[in-house]
Amino acid sequence: MGSSVAFLFLSLLLGSADSLPPPQISFLLNSSDRPLIHFRPDVSNTTTLLLSNDSSTLYVGARDAILSLDVSQSDVISLKKKVMWSPSEQDRADCANKGKNPAVDCPNFIHVVQAVNSTHLYACGSYAYSPHQAVIDIERLSVVHQDGAKGRCPYNPFERSSVVIIDEELFSATTTDFKGHVPQISRFLSKDGRPDVSLDSSIKLLDEPTFVSSSLDPAGQKLYFFFTEAGKEFSFVNELQIPRVAQVCKDDVGGQRILQKKWTSFAKASLLCVSSKELPFNILQDMFTLRPAEGANTRETLFYGIFTSQWSRQAESAVCTFSLQDIQKVFAGSFKTLEKERYQQKHSQRHNYLGKCGLSNSSDSELLRVKTNYLTSQSVTPGKQMVSLEQKYSRLVVMRTQAANGKHYDILFLLTESGLLHKVVSLDEGPRVIEEIQVFKQPQLVKSMILSSSKGVLYVGSSEGVTAVPVARCLIYRSCSQCILARDPLCGWSPTRRTCTGLDGSNEDLVQHLEGSSMGYKCQQILKDHEVFVHLNEAVRLQCLKPSKLATLRWSFSPTVNLAENQLIQAADGSLRFFASTRTLGSYSCEAEEGGVSEEVVRYRVQLAASPRHLSTVNEESVSKSPEELFEDIGTEEPTYTLIKTEERSQPKRNPKGDPEQHVTTAKGGSFSRKTQSIQDVSGFVEVFPTSRKDSKSMLKPREEPLEQRSYHSELVVVSLLLAICILVLAFGLFRIWRQKKAGSRSKRLLALEDGSTTNTSEQICALSTLVQAGQDQTIIQTSHTDGSALESDLSPESGH
Ligand SMILES: *[C@@H]1O[C@H](CO)[C@@H](O)[C@H](O)[C@H]1NC(C)=O
Ligand SMILES: *[C@@H]1O[C@H](CO)[C@@H](O)[C@H](O)[C@H]1NC(C)=O
Ligand SMILES: *[C@@H]1O[C@H](CO)[C@@H](O)[C@H](O)[C@H]1NC(C)=O
Ligand SMILES: *[C@@H]1O[C@H](CO)[C@@H](O)[C@H](O)[C@H]1NC(C)=O
Ligand SMILES: *[C@@H]1O[C@H](CO)[C@@H](O)[C@H](O)[C@H]1NC(C)=O
Repeated sequence: MGSSVAFLFLSLLLGSADSLPPPQISFLLNSSDRPLIHFRPDVSNTTTLLLSNDSSTLYVGARDAILSLDVSQSDVISLKKKVMWSPSEQDRADCANKGKNPAVDCPNFIHVVQAVNSTHLYACGSYAYSPHQAVIDIERLSVVHQDGAKGRCPYNPFERSSVVIIDEELFSATTTDFKGHVPQISRFLSKDGRPDVSLDSSIKLLDEPTFVSSSLDPAGQKLYFFFTEAGKEFSFVNELQIPRVAQVCKDDVGGQRILQKKWTSFAKASLLCVSSKELPFNILQDMFTLRPAEGANTRETLFYGIFTSQWSRQAESAVCTFSLQDIQKVFAGSFKTLEKERYQQKHSQRHNYLGKCGLSNSSDSELLRVKTNYLTSQSVTPGKQMVSLEQKYSRLVVMRTQAANGKHYDILFLLTESGLLHKVVSLDEGPRVIEEIQVFKQPQLVKSMILSSSKGVLYVGSSEGVTAVPVARCLIYRSCSQCILARDPLCGWSPTRRTCTGLDGSNEDLVQHLEGSSMGYKCQQILKDHEVFVHLNEAVRLQCLKPSKLATLRWSFSPTVNLAENQLIQAADGSLRFFASTRTLGSYSCEAEEGGVSEEVVRYRVQLAASPRHLSTVNEESVSKSPEELFEDIGTEEPTYTLIKTEERSQPKRNPKGDPEQHVTTAKGGSFSRKTQSIQDVSGFVEVFPTSRKDSKSMLKPREEPLEQRSYHSELVVVSLLLAICILVLAFGLFRIWRQKKAGSRSKRLLALEDGSTTNTSEQICALSTLVQAGQDQTIIQTSHTDGSALESDLSPESGH
């Protein structure tokens, strides 16, 4: 009972975890923005992957076959060789007779593909529920030898196991029987005449374990196995699962009288992955060993684990890291003693030899103590913790990269059962999910990932084939601020080439801003001035769209004459409003700032109109056009104003979970596609673009969905009526305002605008000028310039280049 209390108490003591935010960008499987390379072979269940030493060949264990794939090209994966390895008719019949489903269970599903040496591969497959192993010649990719291999890989094709070959010796952690009830950790193919060793079977050292992975320590002495098992030391909870790490010494040969041909070095410890708020994450899904870069201290080796909770009702998971040092410390500490099928904590004396390698010649009494003292008193506590309350991750790989600032960052690739790959970077201010990439369609029970750090490619194997995912595609960030604000350590902005590019070791100074908020980098945009022609005393509104919700906008005006402070009003929606006067003519620039990065979004040049303006009519010619096209050929003639309804530029795609997905297609407009913002930004607001009469013909290139004339005209009538009423009602008010302005008191009234929300503001504007907002979708611009009636020019920017 004491230990159970300690378990719960500890979970309260541990620090809280960072939560993973939603992804910044998502890509569906076939996205052309984030192309993947697929290989769909004519065999299925391509789920066991092994990369050759030079990363040019991928060996794939599939159903009844082993393939070698040429992955040396960056844009295509091609089949080199294939060897079929399937059970005989008789084996399949036997499998079916034992009650197994012939199609689902009785082929040979390859569990293990490992390199024995430079000339041969080792493979182990379920082989019709009768595990078999094969030695394969790499050159010809042919099976040179095969036989039964009980205890080296599981009978059940869906069961996980962990098998690794080190120096031509085979270490396996798997169940060894048909029903999958008898677990074993063994060494086979032992060299130099030493015996094969396995777990002492007189004691239940493991209890229904699910093996996940294994890792050799950097000194090459100890092999760690990671798994989850039933936790019998906590008798108060039935069926409690406990994640564990177990160790054996690679060169263990067993005892002389006691523990003959059994591990004298077996020990296990609990792994803790709990944060203060949640229930413990106690089921280990995957564990990745991140080895330090060459030359660095091997003690910096980190283990990244994905955990889920046996009590969770929703999709959630956690990532916890464990240091090699912490694991070593726990195994060097004290052990509990198994007595009468209970673990007891004996406080008497510590035994230095427990958990050590080289006990083969130890005394019988020492080995007898080893037999019952294999569970450590302490648990391994996590370092960094991250929790996702939305995703149930099931596989991970991690790469360490050096950013432009010289600092190292770990980039995690987390895969869900349903095929979403999340690329996560852990920054000081918390983790960020840089991208979400769909890598397969159907949920997959069996799948795997392998990373080639040298090539920067991640390979995903599933029953849908093999998919190569480049670890980054910096070109998806089309502007400087997008590139920097993505905070991807693998991407940086090249000011000279004006492109977002990978950190490929070139000496070019790339701009990156991963941490902190005040870098103060200004992205240099090449923007055209938008010409705005105004009449004196006209109400002018210059629009500026936020590139992202988080951005703040700032206007600047030049020449900086001494304008009274309140003569330029920045409304809540970011637009700038003022009444045209000789002093307000000039250049206006709107800058967006976010996270220490600023970027000019739009520039206007406001000048006096040469001649009286005419009422612009919204006619059938006013078909919308993309902003780029519009501004390419601005004429120099007398301007007119054309009403443009921005189309929904793209429908928000849905990802399999049903969340609105972000898209990068808005990059043309210079706007970011952030999850929360993308829908609002495309929701059909009205923009007015300056153009010239002369060029209005050139605007006729219709889009796919031009405005419908009929509905437009009918609304125009209604709105015109409203407009007329509004003009009448407000003419008086405006006249007064105009007079007040002359009296110098106008600015105070305008100031009130700043406080209004966006919708309120537009109503107040109606009261000030003659802008009529008839509902959300339509805006009518009154451009007559009879005395006393002002004019509102809505100018909507093209914010790209
Ligand atoms: C990807 O698109 C191509 C052509 O558009 C289609 O043939 C293919 O089936 C798609 N692949 C997937 C996995 O959706
Ligand atoms: C093999 O692939 C099929 C789909 O092609 C899938 O339904 C099945 O679960 C896979 N079996 C294993 C053992 O991975
Ligand atoms: C590699 O291993 C295979 C299988 O164990 C063996 O037959 C072969 O001789 C080994 N080759 C070398 C070069 O050691
Ligand atoms: C890869 O390199 C390791 C060690 O350098 C070697 O033991 C192994 O046999 C090699 N594998 C292959 C497939 O060449
Ligand atoms: C155990 O003793 C044998 C012979 O007495 C010796 O050859 C062997 O090296 C010893 N093993 C260890 C691990 O000390």
